[in-house]
Amino acid sequence: MKEELAAFPAIIGANLIGKRILYWPVLVSTMATARQMAEAGVDEGTVVIAGEQTGGQGRMGRVWLSPKGSLNLSIVLCPKLEKLPYLNMAAALATSQSIKDIAGIEVEIKWPNDVLVRRKKVAGILVESRITKEHLLYAIIGIGINVNFPAVTLGELSQRATTLSDEVGTAIPVSELLKKLLLALDKLYFAPSEEIYQRWSKSLITLGQRVCLQIDGSKYDGIAEAVDREGSLLLRLDDGRLLIMPAGEVTSFISI
Ligand code: BTN
Repeated sequence: MKEELAAFPAIIGANLIGKRILYWPVLVSTMATARQMAEAGVDEGTVVIAGEQTGGQGRMGRVWLSPKGSLNLSIVLCPKLEKLPYLNMAAALATSQSIKDIAGIEVEIKWPNDVLVRRKKVAGILVESRITKEHLLYAIIGIGINVNFPAVTLGELSQRATTLSDEVGTAIPVSELLKKLLLALDKLYFAPSEEIYQRWSKSLITLGQRVCLQIDGSKYDGIAEAVDREGSLLLRLDDGRLLIMPAGEVTSFISI
């Protein structure tokens, strides 16, 4: 069953993102539905929301658990190719800012895209795109937020993940959170890329930290020195070399 989210015929004041919102109580994955719509030529800025996902997709082909009480959305966009790296940055900034505003708690961003509360993951971001011959056909931003359910629902993951209701001790008004998030993202989408990059890089807790990352079988220890405008991490290895690490290649990333 497809329904327009009753309280959100459209976000008033939105330039693009949130002018059309489609809601399903349950989907396999909002990414899969948004992808089908993008292929069929849906309007740019369309937001696909599911109250629950049965096959939520995380980064690196991982599963994203999204039980009832989670907020799961994908947004179809058609930016210029050079804007692509900034989508992840804008999504992380909009997600953390809207959580801060609605839940009134401190939120941190861990490279490349984890949104944390008290060092536990509360939201994740996934950007996928279809590119042909140097031309971007569409990009989809996927955002999953653990809103109103107990973190124990996530099983073993609850050691590293939390939910907003657990953190605040009460239910969070999900429609207000959604509205703030979409308005913030809509604004950032039209902001200069340099501004997005500067804000994102300043808000990363990762920089200056000692980290260990894994790419396939190899392990690298060093200090996370900076991020570049592609969103890659600049890692100063213990032997002095500088490793430029694109987010998409890292299989495991921990602070040590
Ligand atoms: C991550 O691994 O941190 C990224 C998780 C992204 C999850 C969101 S939930 C909405 C959208 N639909 C999906 O299947 N995945 C993304």
